[in-house]
Amino acid sequence: MKFKYILPLFVLAFYACSTEKEQVLEVKSPNSEIAVNFNVNAKGKPFYTVMFNNKTVVDTSYLGFDFKDVEDFSENFKIKNTATSSFNETWQMPWGEQLDVVNKYNELKVELQENNEAARSMNIVFKVYDDGIGFRYEFPEQDNFKGEVYINDEHTEFNLTEDYKTFWIPGDWDIYEHLYKTTKLSELDALQYANHNDLAQTYIPENAVNTPVTMVGADGTHLSFHEAALLDYSGMTLKVDTKNFDLRSNLVGSRNTDYKVKKTVPFHTPWRTIQITDNAPELIESKLIVNLNEPNKLGDVSWFTPMKYTGVWWEMHLGKSSWDYGMTQDMSTWTEGGKSNGTHGANTENVKRFIDFSAKNNMKGVLVEGWNTGWEHWIGFEDREGVFDFVTPYPDYDIEEVTSYAKEKGVEIIMHHETSAATETYTKQQDTAYALMQKYGMHSVKSGYVGKILPKGEYHHGQYMVNHYNNAAIKAADYEVAVNAHEPIKATGLRRTYPNIISREGLRGQEFNAWASDGGNPPEHLPIVAFTRMLSGPIDFTPGIFNIKFDEYKPDNQVNTTIAQQLALYVVIYSPIQMAADLVEHYEANPEPLQFIKAVGVDWQQTKVLNGEVGDYVTIARQERETGDWFVGGITDENARTLDLTFDFLDENQKYEAIIYKDGENAHWDNNPLDITIEKIDISKDSKLSVKLAEGGGFAISIKKV
Ligand code: NOJ
Ligand code: CA
Repeated sequence: MKFKYILPLFVLAFYACSTEKEQVLEVKSPNSEIAVNFNVNAKGKPFYTVMFNNKTVVDTSYLGFDFKDVEDFSENFKIKNTATSSFNETWQMPWGEQLDVVNKYNELKVELQENNEAARSMNIVFKVYDDGIGFRYEFPEQDNFKGEVYINDEHTEFNLTEDYKTFWIPGDWDIYEHLYKTTKLSELDALQYANHNDLAQTYIPENAVNTPVTMVGADGTHLSFHEAALLDYSGMTLKVDTKNFDLRSNLVGSRNTDYKVKKTVPFHTPWRTIQITDNAPELIESKLIVNLNEPNKLGDVSWFTPMKYTGVWWEMHLGKSSWDYGMTQDMSTWTEGGKSNGTHGANTENVKRFIDFSAKNNMKGVLVEGWNTGWEHWIGFEDREGVFDFVTPYPDYDIEEVTSYAKEKGVEIIMHHETSAATETYTKQQDTAYALMQKYGMHSVKSGYVGKILPKGEYHHGQYMVNHYNNAAIKAADYEVAVNAHEPIKATGLRRTYPNIISREGLRGQEFNAWASDGGNPPEHLPIVAFTRMLSGPIDFTPGIFNIKFDEYKPDNQVNTTIAQQLALYVVIYSPIQMAADLVEHYEANPEPLQFIKAVGVDWQQTKVLNGEVGDYVTIARQERETGDWFVGGITDENARTLDLTFDFLDENQKYEAIIYKDGENAHWDNNPLDITIEKIDISKDSKLSVKLAEGGGFAISIKKV
């Protein structure tokens, strides 16, 4: 059901002021807790403020644009026209954290016009929701500003009123795979940030951070800054003025152009967003980012089914096997039948082992990395164009046999396209590559963009790459292919419009625990990620490592959580595809905890965040769409803690059986990560349960009606 109506003027209040210019426009959230005020100052500079529960959270913040070769759009404006409206619809996610999403907001559109002969116009549109705000600039069709225009930078300000505790990663133009830092805004120092990433090409031009960046105020106000609907534009980082607690937009650029974004008038920017709540759990429940995107343009995407998957993956990160075939020749002289060094992971027999394991354990997918030729010439090579073709298997991988074997077992092979950031090759090969997938009935691809972008001079987060990622997904949809990009552009809710954009990396994933020289992701990583990166969209984190220490492969590395936390991640970290990332033999050695991964849902009817504090802990309950069963997951940082749970989300007068997988008495992420206690109890809506989480620990519960 969908309805839209124009509200009478009560959301729009004109305060009586001395001069006409000082009229303040106000628009409030449906529950009136958030209020945005807008005006132009005496110089005609547009600005806005944001109040939350009668407190100013964003003080006078100017809005404007700097274009190449034309006068700035920043002052000398008058308010020509304003319009307000209200919107209330409930839409359904084809897959997601919940089925029904309420999209309810009040809108204020302000048409600004220059007070000069050129009389150029710029509109600013605010949408104010109960969980935050979004605003964007629109440049309408006009006589004195037309054709192609070049944006040097956007001057969007967020001037904050206090020294927030801030959870941030640096504003790297190439990669989001950094550890989060927790500092006061006044102590934020992105330029001093050590590069924790063995693969990144760090470029941090200012004291800037990437978004989502989340902040907690002294009175418990929670803010998270991000953007929505990033299409044909550059990603936005935020430059931090530590003295004044001010944030400024800083768009990602390119070394190939002397501007950052090229557009053709008329156009509009992505939405600039602030999620605003008075507690941490509601940040995760917020649907602001998807709501600010356009409705589904693909129609029925039921060819993609949310799934758990295993795969030929972790074994390469551990060094047990290789992506490449071990050919000694250069690719240019390689001929079919070239010799393997015997470690190639993606061979028919090994993949069949994963297919059998998936089929037995209620997992619908098997990811196969390293199946195609080209891996001899990726990381470390400058000339990466023309290497991968995404259709030629290595000699020991029989794609025909593997896909038909999988089909027999009710399993789908997940395609892997490592582009090595050679974008021109990938763009050229896409039709052929997706057509091959269609031929074999493969409906999802994991793509990868390791390395510096080719063409040289482009960055992963600039306009060129934003278009590349989006166009790849849009084209993939023509072949009924869903995309999970690694080294991606950040999620901005486009999954609403293009629901074949299923998941992505865009953070330090599990892989870092296998090889990072800094010791991997510390126990606080995911309790921060849940309130930062996860606000933007699904994460392909690849949980479920049972062999936490893997000393036989990498004595200096380990996963820095307990095994119980690895289970909890299937519920806490949302993605419509969830990997059971460990090796078959490691699961077979631990059949009891494996029962949880086997049982856990992956597509949800509803989600409730039961408790949480940013960076400390979080507990989430999700109800599976298909069965109505509930699953609860809780994780903590390096501190042990006891969490008290209630189950009021369960049905009235109904008995349930709960299986609890929790840290054992002596569990500890480092000293004793495998200590786990599994127990079965009866519960109902009125039950109360205290669960003890170890340092770096967690718990998972499956709840079924009896
Ligand atoms: C980096 C990705 O994050 C990882 O999952 C993948 O295995 C490698 N690239 C190879 O494509
Ligand atoms: Ca990666």
